[in-house]
Amino acid sequence: MVLFSTFFFFFFISLSLSQGQPPIDPLEQKALYDVLNSLNPAIPWTTDYPDDLCLSAPHGVVCDYYPSDSDDHNVQNQQQKAHIVELNFGYVSDETPNPPCSPNATLNPLLFTSFPYLQKLFFYKCFNNTQNPLPSLPPSLQELVFIQNPSFVSPLHLFLRNLTSLRRLVLIGNAFQGELPLNIGDYTNLEELTLSTNNLSGMIPPSFGMLKKLKILDLSQNDFKGCVPQEIGNLTSLLKLDLSYNGFGCKIPESFTHLQNMMFLDLSFNLFGNFGVPLFLGEISTLKEVYLSGNLLSGQIPEIWENLGGVEKIGFSKMGLVGKIPVSMGTYLKNLSYLGLDNNKLDGSVPQEFGLLEFANEINLENNNLSGRISLPSRVEQKLKLAGNIGLCLGNNASCSSQNGESLGQLNPYKISDILPDHDDVLFNGDSLLHFDPLMLVLVLVGWLLSFTWDG
Ligand SMILES: *[C@@H]1O[C@H](CO)[C@@H](O)[C@H](O)[C@H]1NC(C)=O
Ligand SMILES: *[C@@H]1O[C@H](CO)[C@@H](O)[C@H](O)[C@H]1NC(C)=O
Ligand SMILES: *[C@@H]1O[C@H](CO)[C@@H](O)[C@H](O)[C@H]1NC(C)=O
Ligand SMILES: *[C@@H]1O[C@H](CO)[C@@H](O)[C@H](O)[C@H]1NC(C)=O
Ligand SMILES: *[C@@H]1O[C@H](CO)[C@@H](O)[C@H](O)[C@H]1NC(C)=O
Ligand SMILES: *[C@@H]1O[C@H](CO)[C@@H](O)[C@H](O)[C@H]1NC(C)=O
Ligand SMILES: *[C@@H]1O[C@H](CO)[C@@H](O)[C@H](O)[C@H]1NC(C)=O
Ligand SMILES: *[C@@H]1O[C@H](CO)[C@@H](O)[C@H](O)[C@H]1NC(C)=O
Repeated sequence: MVLFSTFFFFFFISLSLSQGQPPIDPLEQKALYDVLNSLNPAIPWTTDYPDDLCLSAPHGVVCDYYPSDSDDHNVQNQQQKAHIVELNFGYVSDETPNPPCSPNATLNPLLFTSFPYLQKLFFYKCFNNTQNPLPSLPPSLQELVFIQNPSFVSPLHLFLRNLTSLRRLVLIGNAFQGELPLNIGDYTNLEELTLSTNNLSGMIPPSFGMLKKLKILDLSQNDFKGCVPQEIGNLTSLLKLDLSYNGFGCKIPESFTHLQNMMFLDLSFNLFGNFGVPLFLGEISTLKEVYLSGNLLSGQIPEIWENLGGVEKIGFSKMGLVGKIPVSMGTYLKNLSYLGLDNNKLDGSVPQEFGLLEFANEINLENNNLSGRISLPSRVEQKLKLAGNIGLCLGNNASCSSQNGESLGQLNPYKISDILPDHDDVLFNGDSLLHFDPLMLVLVLVGWLLSFTWDG
C-alpha cells in the first residue's frame, strides 16, 4: 500500500513536472544534434534522444530556465524557456559517461554561436588527430575545462579574448601556445587558472596580482621563464600554487609569505637561484605539501618547522643542500608522510627523532653523504630509502659498510646490538662506532673464524 502510494506520488510529480517544464529553445536543440554528430557520427543521436534535450538529455548536457525574450509576444510562451547552460563531452568513466568523442571528432562552429546561455564547456580527450583551430567562444562562459585534447592548437591570448566572465579555466594537456595575456588582471572573476602541460611561454605578467579571488594557480609543465613577480604574493586567496617544470629563475619572492591560506606549493624543477631554502615557508602554517626539488637553492636545511605540524609531504631533492638534517624535522612534523631529501650533499647522521614520524610512508635519503648507524622503529625503518650513502648502516642489520665503503664482513651469529647496551631505538652514529672499535675488531675476527669452521 505504502509502495503503491509512493509510486503514484512520484508518477504524478514527474508528470506535472514534465508538463510544467518550459521547452528547450528549438534552435539550441537542433544545434546540439549537429554538435553531437560532429563529435561522434557513429551514434544515432536523434534516434537515441528524440525528445526535448532538456528533459531527456545525454549525460553531460545541463539546462536551466530563463524568462523568455521580451520581444516574444506569444502569451503562452511568455513565462520561461529552457536553455543549455553546460555541455560536457568525452567519456570520463561510468560515473561520468559524457557523450563519447570519436577519433575523428571535429569541432562544429555552431558550438560557439548557438548557445548564448552556455556557462560551462568541458572536453575530455576529444581532439587528438583532427586539427581544430578554436574560434572565439561565447562571453557568457564561466567555466572552461579542456583536458588532453592535443590537437587543440590556439594562441592563448586570442582564445581568451572577451572571456572575462571566466571563473574556472582549466586547460591541461592541449597545445595552447604563446604567452599569457598581458591583461590577465582583468579576469577578476577567476578562481582557478590551471594551464598545465601546454606549450605556453613568456613571463608571468605583474597584473596577476589583481586576481584577488584566485584559489588555484597551476602553470606547471610549460615553457615559462623569467622572475616570478612579487605581485603573486598579493593573491592571498591562493590554496594551491604550482609552477613546477618551467624555466622560472631569480629568487623565490619573499612576498609569498603573505599567502597565508596556501596548502600546496610546488616550485620544483625550475631555475630558482642559489638563495637557500626560503625562510618564509615557516610562516605559512596552512602548508600541507611543499616541493622545491630540482632547483639549486643550496645552503642548509633551515630550522623553520615549528609551525608546520600540518605538513604531509616535502620534496627537497636535487637542491644542492649541505649540512645536517635538522632534528626538528622529526620533532615538529607530526603528520609527515613523504620526505624527499635525496640527491643532495647532506652529511651527519639520520636524526633519531624520525622515529616519531607516525605516518611516515616514504623517507628518501638516497645519494647523500650520511653516515652512522640507524636504529629506528622498524615501522619507520621500512620506509627509509638509503642507497648511495657510503658509511650508513641500518639498525640491527649486521651487514654494514665501513666509512671507506668496504664491507666489515658478516658479524653473525652475534649481532653488535646484542652486545651493546641500550640498543633499543638508539641511534649509534659514526662517533660511537669508532668508540667501540676494539670490540668490533674482536667480533669481526670471531665471525670470520666461525664462518670458516662452519663452511669447513
Ligand atoms: C569518422 O570515422 C567513422 C568510422 O570510424 C566514419 O564512419 C565517419 O564517416 C567519420 N566521420 C568523419 C566526419 O570523418
Ligand atoms: C593521441 O593519439 C596518439 C596516437 O596517434 C596516442 O598515442 C595518444 O595516446 C593519444 N592521446 C590522447 C590524449 O588520446
Ligand atoms: C571582443 O569584444 C570586442 C568588444 O569588447 C568586440 O569588438 C570583438 O568583436 C569581440 N571579439 C570576439 C572574437 O568576439
Ligand atoms: C611549442 O612551440 C614552439 C614554438 O614556440 C614550437 O617550436 C614547438 O614545436 C611547439 N611544440 C609543440 C609540442 O607543439
Ligand atoms: C601587492 O602587494 C604589495 C606588497 O607585496 C603592496 O605594496 C601592494 O599594494 C599590493 N597591491 C595590491 C593591488 O594589493
Ligand atoms: C594532522 O593530521 C590529523 C589527521 O589528518 C589532523 O586532524 C591534524 O589536525 C593534523 N595536524 C596538524 C597540526 O595540522
Ligand atoms: C662526506 O663526509 C666526510 C666526513 O664525514 C667527508 O670527509 C667527505 O669529504 C664527504 N664526502 C663528500 C663527497 O662530500
Ligand atoms: C641488510 O643490508 C643489506 C645490504 O646493506 C641488505 O641487502 C639486506 O636486505 C639488509 N637486511 C635487512 C634485514 O634489512
